[in-house]
Amino acid sequence: MEIGFVQFSPRFGEKEKNIKKVMELIGEDRADLIVLPELFTTGYLFLDKVETGKYAESVSNSHTIDVFRNLSKEKNAVIVGGFAEKDGEKIYNSQFVIYEEKVAIYRKAHLFYKEKFLFDKSNSKYVIFDTGGAKLGLMICFDWMFPEMMRTLALHGADIICHSANLVMPYCQKAMITRALENRVYIITANRTGMDKRGEYEVRFTGKSQIVSPDGNIILSADETDEIFKKIDIDEALARDKRINEMNDLFSDRRTDLYKL
Ligand code: ACM
Repeated sequence: MEIGFVQFSPRFGEKEKNIKKVMELIGEDRADLIVLPELFTTGYLFLDKVETGKYAESVSNSHTIDVFRNLSKEKNAVIVGGFAEKDGEKIYNSQFVIYEEKVAIYRKAHLFYKEKFLFDKSNSKYVIFDTGGAKLGLMICFDWMFPEMMRTLALHGADIICHSANLVMPYCQKAMITRALENRVYIITANRTGMDKRGEYEVRFTGKSQIVSPDGNIILSADETDEIFKKIDIDEALARDKRINEMNDLFSDRRTDLYKL
């Protein structure tokens, strides 16, 4: 199957412009699975929770989800991306996955730094989305730093981890090589570029979106500033073979009897 990511620099608060930019970058192209960054319609640097709430959308009445449902149908593609979600009084840093009439939502489990003031604590457990051809595991940005997260997704059968990101620290791209190796999964990290500057606050994002294969190779990448859609053909079945050699299997060799808490 063909899998890809969009990397760009969203403009804070300009949803329509950001959606248009994604459409332009994909253009006439397509892939079976396209992953977009975290909070790609709104930008990242909300000043307070009231402001986050102004931009948040409820799943049942979401312009963003409607637009990407149409794109999913038009391209016959699974689309994954991050958005600010409203559910009653609660605001979440969420990720949608859309395919045909199906929509699933994951709410970021590990909030980074001041996100703790801007979003509510997630009540999502792991989310696996079965496309019929591959099982997708959902993950947002800072979740990468908690190895339990990807292990849980992999143990529940995820072949491809869809990682929507707004990375600010320089470590994730390298760490994902290890995450892929230790779980034998594909990992698509769709990161953003550029910066958000709001009042006295400023955050810069690291770009370098990438796809890592189950044997730990970076098989596709963007540079720090690219605004681009990139894709590659993969064999998703590779992620289902957890054997390292004829004597070792990554999952059945786990000694949960020894390291259970
Ligand atoms: C992050 O989790 N967006 C750094």
